[in-house]
Amino acid sequence: MRMLIIAADGQLGTDAVSYFSKKYDVSAFKTADMDVTDPIRVNGAILAVKPDAVLNCAAMTNVDGCESQAEQAYRVNAYGAGLVALAAARVGAHLVHISTDYVFAGDGSRPYVETDSPDPQNVYGASKLSGERHVQALCPNSAILRTAWLYGPHGNNFVKTMLKLAEKGEVGVVTDQVGNPTSTFELIRMIDAVVACKSTGIFHATCEGVVSWNGFAREIFRLAGVEVNVKDVTSEEFVRPAHRPAYSVLSKDKIAAVTGYRPADWQDALREYFDYQAGKIDF
Ligand SMILES: NC(=O)c1ccc[n+]([C@@H]2O[C@H](COP(=O)([O-])OP(=O)(O)OC[C@H]3O[C@@H](n4cnc5c(N)ncnc54)[C@H](OP(=O)(O)O)[C@@H]3O)[C@@H](O)[C@H]2O)c1
Repeated sequence: MRMLIIAADGQLGTDAVSYFSKKYDVSAFKTADMDVTDPIRVNGAILAVKPDAVLNCAAMTNVDGCESQAEQAYRVNAYGAGLVALAAARVGAHLVHISTDYVFAGDGSRPYVETDSPDPQNVYGASKLSGERHVQALCPNSAILRTAWLYGPHGNNFVKTMLKLAEKGEVGVVTDQVGNPTSTFELIRMIDAVVACKSTGIFHATCEGVVSWNGFAREIFRLAGVEVNVKDVTSEEFVRPAHRPAYSVLSKDKIAAVTGYRPADWQDALREYFDYQAGKIDF
């Protein structure tokens, strides 16, 4: 099977290339080699490779930056997603597109299911929702995986930020936003399951278990074996340009039922990440 991976040098793309290269014939396109907003590059690459599957990891992911650069956010996350979907449909490829929990308002009290109505509260979430709609309209043979709180060895993420801040000995982290921390490793296993089943439609794809950013930070420090004074902070005390959802919990029942793959608990996935970083395991 031929798989084409877009944004092969991003956080998710880097791990996806190393994982899928062991199983499939992978054509990896780094950001500099394929700008998803350039129709000639997108069509040229996808029509030349004629992949069986396309994995689109490209996105403008700077959530606060999207607020001040909305046009660029929509260009990449919506228009770019649409161009990839159109080209994938032209060659009859199965497209896996990655989206986000931020399509929801985050004011719920039970895990969001795929049929719940989206209601994004920031530009990033709105641009990603627009991308989902482009993908669904232009490439019916597609799976949209909504993930959240993603971290991996090859990107800037919350785990690395916390470990950097730990050097100060004290860090304030919000207690009133909860969600599902998800490793790139577990997300890739879910992508793998979806690709193997050629599943189509929307899937929620995060690790199991719910925690606040504050609880997540405490577990990071515990596993890293570093002493840090973690202060409890509220969202009101930690204002940022983009609104963040308070309740960002996604139900994984659908992906488990359709593919047979039930994602790991977030603590187990975090332990695996630390083992990988320590060179104890491979991915
Ligand atoms: N990180 C999270 O917490 C999180 C949460 C929910 C969903 N997601 C979704 O998960 C997916 C993977 O994100 P990630 O964590 O791997 O983020 P990432 O490391 O920022 O990866 C995104 C990649 O897309 C590239 N890109 C930006 N504009 C592009 C363009 N016009 N054409 C082609 N590539 C472009 C970026 O390149 P540059 O770095 O050079 O801009 C980067 O390599 C995205 O769809 C994201 O929306 C992420």
